[in-house]
Amino acid sequence: MTKLIDLKKRDSKLIEECAEAIKDGKLVVLPTETVYGIGANALDVKAVRRIFEIKKRNKNNPLIVLVSDFDMLDKIAYGITDIHQKLIDKFWPGPLTIIFNRKNSLPDDVTGNLDTIGVRIPGNEIVLDIIRKAKVPITAPSANVSGKLSIIDPKLAYQEFNGKVDFIVDGGISDIGVESTIVKVDGNVIYILRRGKILPEDIEKLGFSVRLSDNIPSKGNKHYSIGKKAILVTGSNSIDKITNYIDNHSSQKIGVIGFDEHYTLFTEKVNVYIKMGSVYHYDAILKNLFNTLNEAKEADNDVFLIECLEEHGIGKLVMDKFRAICDNEII
Ligand code: TXA
Ligand code: MG
Repeated sequence: MTKLIDLKKRDSKLIEECAEAIKDGKLVVLPTETVYGIGANALDVKAVRRIFEIKKRNKNNPLIVLVSDFDMLDKIAYGITDIHQKLIDKFWPGPLTIIFNRKNSLPDDVTGNLDTIGVRIPGNEIVLDIIRKAKVPITAPSANVSGKLSIIDPKLAYQEFNGKVDFIVDGGISDIGVESTIVKVDGNVIYILRRGKILPEDIEKLGFSVRLSDNIPSKGNKHYSIGKKAILVTGSNSIDKITNYIDNHSSQKIGVIGFDEHYTLFTEKVNVYIKMGSVYHYDAILKNLFNTLNEAKEADNDVFLIECLEEHGIGKLVMDKFRAICDNEII
């Protein structure tokens, strides 16, 4: 049986109960500032193996972990340099996972036998309360079955993991709505292994050179399948392109994922129009992205046309996700 625990009010008895569960080797779906994660004591091999089972995750794809303070970080990682420290001072608690050399206190199963570990202090008070009470580093892979969308809504976590985990903590909808930025420091260069809310330019502002890299163990995973064809509508004449597509494909059930401002243009002409947010509020589009994509997944149509954002800052981040679900289908 899975127990749903409402921790929005940070009730100390319930926090204690979750911390005890983690220490006992149980699995607890947890809110973080990015997306929901599957929490377990990272030092407990059995619990860690259960995570790989319920996520149907490849054993070579390591888990990242959350800590609540530097002492806890020191127990699992070594070789922390001034550069790491600058990143930590600037971005923790928050959505920046940093890859460190790992100590042998961590079981090999957590890191997929790698000699490194991804760690962050999360920017979510509920999960921080639980880590502080449990006094152990807690695993935090995204709470989704491999290949499915990440989850920002505890109700969806319940649908997916009821009966498979011990507790699901309701901490409300995740603030950011996209997974953490992952970085690795090599010499004086910061490599971004996964894009997230902390952008390359945010890190450059600290005076570091930043490079993008796709050298990540989960490389090639198709994370954002919505289970149907999706086409990215590029260029400044997207309205014409969508109109033409609708005119030329009358036998298809067409959906559009588009800006709020274009809703009235198309809603009568298509099967479904999903409003992703305003063309002026990219932050809100990002925060709502997983809901948008989930809605698209549930919708009954053959194809989605997706409007493009401008490719800078948050816009680029959202576009990366769109590209991942479009599989290079572009008009
Ligand atoms: O925001 C997040 O990071 C969320 C929340 C729940 O914490 N978690 C998350 O975990 O996105 P997951 O497991 O879905 O993605 C972690 C990514 C994977 O792509 C994995 O391959 C990579 O981190 N990773 C883990 N350990 C690594 C390591 N030592 N070196 C390089 N990449 C690593
Ligand atoms: Mg994931």
